[in-house]
Amino acid sequence: MKKILTVVGARPQFIKAAAISHVIRDLYPDKLQEDLLNTGQHYDDAMAGNFFNELDLPRARYNLGVGSGTHGAQTAAMLKGVEEVMLSEHYDGALVYGDTNSTLAGALAAAKLGIPLFHVEAGLRSFNRAMPEEINRIVSDQLSLRLFAPTITAMENLRREGYAEERIVMSGDVMLDNILNYNDKAKNGEHLPNRFILATVHRNFNTDCEERLKNILAGLCKAAERIGCEVVFPVHPRTRQRFDSMSDKSLLKNIRTVEPMSYLETLAALKGCGLVATDSGGLQKEAYFSGRSCLVLRPETEWSEIVTAGAATLTDADSTRIADEACRLWETRPKAPTEFGEGKAAVHIVEEILKNI
Ligand code: UD1
Repeated sequence: MKKILTVVGARPQFIKAAAISHVIRDLYPDKLQEDLLNTGQHYDDAMAGNFFNELDLPRARYNLGVGSGTHGAQTAAMLKGVEEVMLSEHYDGALVYGDTNSTLAGALAAAKLGIPLFHVEAGLRSFNRAMPEEINRIVSDQLSLRLFAPTITAMENLRREGYAEERIVMSGDVMLDNILNYNDKAKNGEHLPNRFILATVHRNFNTDCEERLKNILAGLCKAAERIGCEVVFPVHPRTRQRFDSMSDKSLLKNIRTVEPMSYLETLAALKGCGLVATDSGGLQKEAYFSGRSCLVLRPETEWSEIVTAGAATLTDADSTRIADEACRLWETRPKAPTEFGEGKAAVHIVEEILKNI
């Protein structure tokens, strides 16, 4: 029996890890043991706890409880904690997801101890090094034995950067696996309005600049007025802090702010909405997988295939563009995605891990 340590800590990682944990548990219980380490980067129940129950994730064997902090302090605390766990028993491999500080800490700890590292969602690039996530991705990719690229674009990014062909695995996207597995279990969305835009904002460059945040809110309000719909806005804790300290809160009056949604609540909201507006990478994909068009509240995206497919458009924080594009894309239904695999990414990834440890 081989043993791997999976390092997670932020909301989207709990979701991605669920797909792979279930495959390990259901298909390879005699071949692979997975220990889950939760760094505690996200700690509010709405950001962390409810995902473990809802997605039937195994309980984390290790909880570091690191919490929030500056990038250096947060990553350092995680690195120290992950290393201690990796030194405390033998692991044949380590598995990390995406591009958060938890990913970086897990990748660095494994690489320094010579533990084979596997990176799910490798090869993503925004080509914007001002984003902490871009740094985390590039470093985690560099340190990985096998890089699981969710799309051809991601694979091509890695090829362009000179990665050896045998390190790159075009796996498909585990988030598509999840949508297919959980869609039937979506909560019922009867508390949601009939016609609404589902909006989220949590990226530091949007939350920490009041001008950008106000432009986004103004664009959403204008869009809702022109379309004749509401805006439902689940609020990330950092965004909540910014809303609370905003000098002029009048724009918020026309927006229905709600607590962060669980995964199954999000699926229900995706089914019910006429359009998505977000700066989240994960929600861009989930919108596409759910047949909803999406405004990307950023100047660029790692998920360029969704824009190429015509299912998303980059509006940045430009209120006029947000309103105009919302009217254009409202209730348009993108075609079914073909770029993210067939919903079998988790099986593919686990098989590849087993071949390499
Ligand atoms: C992190 C990831 C980002 C990912 C996002 C998913 C990094 C660098 N960024 O961003 O890529 O898209 O997770 O949601 O790792 N906070 C709470 N309660 C919580 C968590 C956070 O109040 O449970 C507040 C704190 O004020 C904290 C702030 O949110 O300082 C930001 O949290 P942090 O973990 O630094 O990053 P995210 O913005 O959530």
